[in-house]
Amino acid sequence: MIKQYQEELSLAVRAAREAGGLIRDKIYRHQVTETKSCLSDLVTEVDRQAETCIVRLIQQHFPSHAVVGEEQQGNCAGEPGGAMTWYVDPLDGTTNFVFGLPFCAVSIALAHHGTPVLGVVHDPLRDETFTAVRDGGARLNDSPINTDHSIATLDRSLLVTGYPGNIANRPRMHLVNYRQLIDRCNNLRALGSAALELAYVASGRLTGFWEVSLRPWDVAAGMVLVEEAGGTVSDLAGRRLQLTESVDIAATNGLIHEELLECLEWPEYNEIK
Ligand code: IPD
Ligand code: CA
Ligand code: CA
Ligand code: CA
Repeated sequence: MIKQYQEELSLAVRAAREAGGLIRDKIYRHQVTETKSCLSDLVTEVDRQAETCIVRLIQQHFPSHAVVGEEQQGNCAGEPGGAMTWYVDPLDGTTNFVFGLPFCAVSIALAHHGTPVLGVVHDPLRDETFTAVRDGGARLNDSPINTDHSIATLDRSLLVTGYPGNIANRPRMHLVNYRQLIDRCNNLRALGSAALELAYVASGRLTGFWEVSLRPWDVAAGMVLVEEAGGTVSDLAGRRLQLTESVDIAATNGLIHEELLECLEWPEYNEIK
C-alpha cells in the first residue's frame, strides 16, 4: 500500500465533496451567468463559491503549496510549477450545470515539479469519487478501477471528445478529425466535462478521449486517473503530456492509442511524427 500523498488525498477528497455539495444543491435552479472570453465561456456564482471553498481548505492545510484555480484567472497563490502545485477546476462542465444537464464534476490535482501525482474527480450528482495517487492505482469510491482492456481496435471503441469554445485558429482540422473518427470508431460522444470524461476512460466506461485547447486544470487529475488505471495519456504527437497553458490531449485504454493518434490530423504535429 503506497502511503505517499495520503494526507493530500484525504484533503482533496474532502474539498471536492464540499464543493460538490454546492453544485448538487444548485444545479436544478435558475443560474445567474456571466460570460468570460466569449459567449460560450460561462461562469456562475457556484463556480466561484466552489473554488473559494477548495482553495481555502488547501491553503489551510498546505500553506507552502501553490494553487492554480480556473476562476482565479491566473492569480495563483504561490509559485506554480514549483515543488508542489495544486490544479483546481471547481466545476468542470459549467455549460451542462447552467442548462441543468447532470454531467459535471469537481477536479483537483496535485503536481510535483510539473508532474501530476494525485487526482480527484468527484461527480456530486452520482456521488462518485474517482481518485488516484501516482504508483498507487486508481479507485472509484472504494473499488479499484481499470481501463477497458477488452477492446483493442477503434472500430469497437466508444470515444469521447469535446468542442473547444474557441476554435478560430483551427476550425477545419476539427471537422476533419470528427469526420475521420466518426467513420473509424464504434461511436462518438461529447459529454461536456473533460475531467469526468477522463475518469470514465479510467473506469472503462469509455475507451478513449481526445480534445484540444484544454487548460491544465481540466486534465491534471484525469491524467493521473487514466495512467494509474492502466491507460495511456499523451499529446497528439504521442509525447508525454505537459501541463502547459493550452493542452491538446489523447487518453485511452492504451491498446487503441496509436490507432487514435494516426487518425488525428494536426499539421503542427505531423511535422514532428
Ligand atoms: C470545459 C469542459 C468541457 C470542455 C471545455 C472546458 P469548464 O470546462 O471541460 O468538456 O470541452 O473546453 O473548458 O469551463 O466547464 O470548466
Ligand atoms: Ca470555465
Ligand atoms: Ca474545465
Ligand atoms: Ca470550470
